Amino acid sequence: MKIFLDSANLEEIETARSWGVLAGVTTNPTLIARERADLHERIAAIARLVNGPISAEVTSTGAREMVEEGRILAEIADNVVIKVPATPAGLEATAALAAQGVDVNVTLIFSANQALLAARAGAALVSPFVGRLDDINHDGMEVVAQCVQIFDLHNIDTQVLAASIRHPLHVTQAALAGAHVATIPFGVLQRMIQHPLTDSGLERFLRDWREAQKQGS
Ligand code: E4P
Repeated sequence: MKIFLDSANLEEIETARSWGVLAGVTTNPTLIARERADLHERIAAIARLVNGPISAEVTSTGAREMVEEGRILAEIADNVVIKVPATPAGLEATAALAAQGVDVNVTLIFSANQALLAARAGAALVSPFVGRLDDINHDGMEVVAQCVQIFDLHNIDTQVLAASIRHPLHVTQAALAGAHVATIPFGVLQRMIQHPLTDSGLERFLRDWREAQKQGS
């Protein structure tokens, strides 16, 4: 499972990149608005930092407008992927953009049927939202597992990108469910590498080492 960062913050993206784990980035209108950044400038800056796919989301809702907006966003850099919502107009835009060779990530997916339709429309990626389903007492990870199983059974190439990840356990579960990608908020990524036994173990190793050095001198 590849690791994407779910962020439009350049410092976070640079840090994740420096760890050698970053295969791509997803953004959405909320994340861009939080940065008070111009959408096109920020996507261009992210695309310069990261080689992998960078998802940029359209903000129009009509199919024709989404296609126009998507084409302009796709021109920012070769690695820009266009995010469209899982609506009827979004399917139409997905089909049109895919036919023009533009990679599409269908977002706001909350059921396996939405994912199947998005894949058949030509999506390169589908993004089931795990945390938002959990929030309403549904098992979000079950939708990820169903998407993976359906795509495997029917030889569908579309990748399943587990989104709306809220904690490290979601990441483990997404990997075990066979998700091709998980897009992870920076705070969750930081918690994934933390373990109290690593910290206390390191402290003890260094203390023992310093003691041995003192005795040797
Ligand atoms: C995915 O691409 C979305 O940007 C994101 O994962 C949504 O997560 P949220 O539910 O925490 O806003």
